[in-house]
Amino acid sequence: MRGGQASNNLVKMRAQHAFARENRRHASSLVVCAGTGKFVVGGNWKCNGTKDSIDKLCASLNSGKITADVEVICAPPMVYIDRVQSKLKAPYQIAAQNCWVSKGGAFTGEVSAEMLKDANIPWVILGHSERRSLCGETNEFVGLKTKYALDTGVKVVACIGESLAQREAGDTLNVCFAQLKAIVDCVTEKDWENIIIAYEPVWAIGTGKVATPDQAQEVHAGVRKWMSENVSPDVASKVRIQYGGSVNAGNCDELATKPDIDGFLVGGASLDGEAFVKICNSAAHSK
Ligand code: PGA
Repeated sequence: MRGGQASNNLVKMRAQHAFARENRRHASSLVVCAGTGKFVVGGNWKCNGTKDSIDKLCASLNSGKITADVEVICAPPMVYIDRVQSKLKAPYQIAAQNCWVSKGGAFTGEVSAEMLKDANIPWVILGHSERRSLCGETNEFVGLKTKYALDTGVKVVACIGESLAQREAGDTLNVCFAQLKAIVDCVTEKDWENIIIAYEPVWAIGTGKVATPDQAQEVHAGVRKWMSENVSPDVASKVRIQYGGSVNAGNCDELATKPDIDGFLVGGASLDGEAFVKICNSAAHSK
């Protein structure tokens, strides 16, 4: 416990120092572009839950009042998706947390995009940092998966984000751009209508260490500028860029005020119905 706490504190301290350095470097270069898409909040339930806890979560989500200004996407564990689909009411949409890179077949343990389509699952999260780091998914693999899912008719939440070491080395934007480029290389300009970008700094995921609104805004604006230059200004203004990494009911409103933050991808706090509803309703603070 204590060791875990100490190493968590160390991660936080290192992230703070890296921020301070980057902020000095970029202080005068914060680019504000502003997205025009509808605010969108995703709940990534990851590998959590039981039938019982998931039923309770669905009941709690259904009892919340969600503003009309937000699109909401919940991503339960695959084995519970059918159950959640039968319980969650509008406006909640469903996403899978992953799918295979091509047509199904002899791929033990995988789920194909065709299956998602067949099961009426409209969205899939691809390229989450946990899959990149734990399952060895490369930028290119995520690009191919994104294209295959889109061609099959499943919309994609595509995750990007730097590790602490990459941030400390001043590589944040380059890492994000390389991850995006691998997707851009696979998809058409039109495909971007069905892609949400989720910027999730790895050091902020599940650590309780959230990027400050300015730090998140800086990367979001950089990503949008890169999209403008490398895809098109039209796509750049329309594509929604979510922030993810320790978003909770207490920090969402301030993050939502940033012009290039078009929503959130929420892990831990999405398992608490009341907190998640509050995060969805932070759309009211969006500019
Ligand atoms: P977190 O996870 O909100 O628990 O940090 C975010 C994510 O991994 O999508």
